[in-house]
Amino acid sequence: MKLIRARDYDHMSRQAANIISAQVILKPDSVLGLATGSSPIGTYRQLIDWYRKGDIDFSQVRTVNLDEYVGLGPENVQSYAWFMRHNFFDHINLPIGNTNIPDGTNPDAAAECARYDRVIRGLGGIDLQLLGLGPNGHIGFNEPDEFFDKGTHRVALREATIQANKRFFDREEDVPRFAYTMGICDIMQASRVVMVVSGASKAAILREAFFGPVTPRVPASILQLHKHFTLVADEEALGEVAVSC
Ligand code: GLP
Repeated sequence: MKLIRARDYDHMSRQAANIISAQVILKPDSVLGLATGSSPIGTYRQLIDWYRKGDIDFSQVRTVNLDEYVGLGPENVQSYAWFMRHNFFDHINLPIGNTNIPDGTNPDAAAECARYDRVIRGLGGIDLQLLGLGPNGHIGFNEPDEFFDKGTHRVALREATIQANKRFFDREEDVPRFAYTMGICDIMQASRVVMVVSGASKAAILREAFFGPVTPRVPASILQLHKHFTLVADEEALGEVAVSC
């Protein structure tokens, strides 16, 4: 694991954007695995800025998103499809046909998960996967469990996740209870993984995930075993980590 210590959220976002931009410059048709949540928004903002300055070209990039709420279509402002367009895709020259997100409107979970696994395989795997860290250690929507779930699957969101994500909805009842998410194998098979973590509220789970045992109870902990995993975290998120590495 490589740890990049950032001063604050903006610095963390620029550091992560630098890694992604290097990836796209070196391999213009890269497959980028993308994430939602508050953590990567600054990274997307920085990439948009560099695109506008003419420094990055996304015209050949292909993307696969980690997850989507079951029941929400792309026109729903709470869907991750909408999030991605609003925060990133609409502002760069990435053809929308090159983007992939699980289809939350497909009620047939087995069919949708099999389709999404085929999409990932068809792209030849992921060159760089960007991740945030859920408050309970989830990655994508791989929730704490007794085992690591391999491929794309439908997951029942844990109470901690519903509580953390209700801020994006008018009412707690509106938070979908299920999601489709890429599995742990899909994420672990990415050639490079970059995680952005910011703020004191993530300090305890960051320590548990990356300075504790590897366990499906803290899904992000599996990343300790990834060969090219870079953690970009700010001072507050690293507040409970004493070591330097
Ligand atoms: C959601 C997403 C995750 C994300 C997590 C953390 O649950 N499914 O991919 O990492 O939220 O979000 P935030 O960055 O807002 O803390």
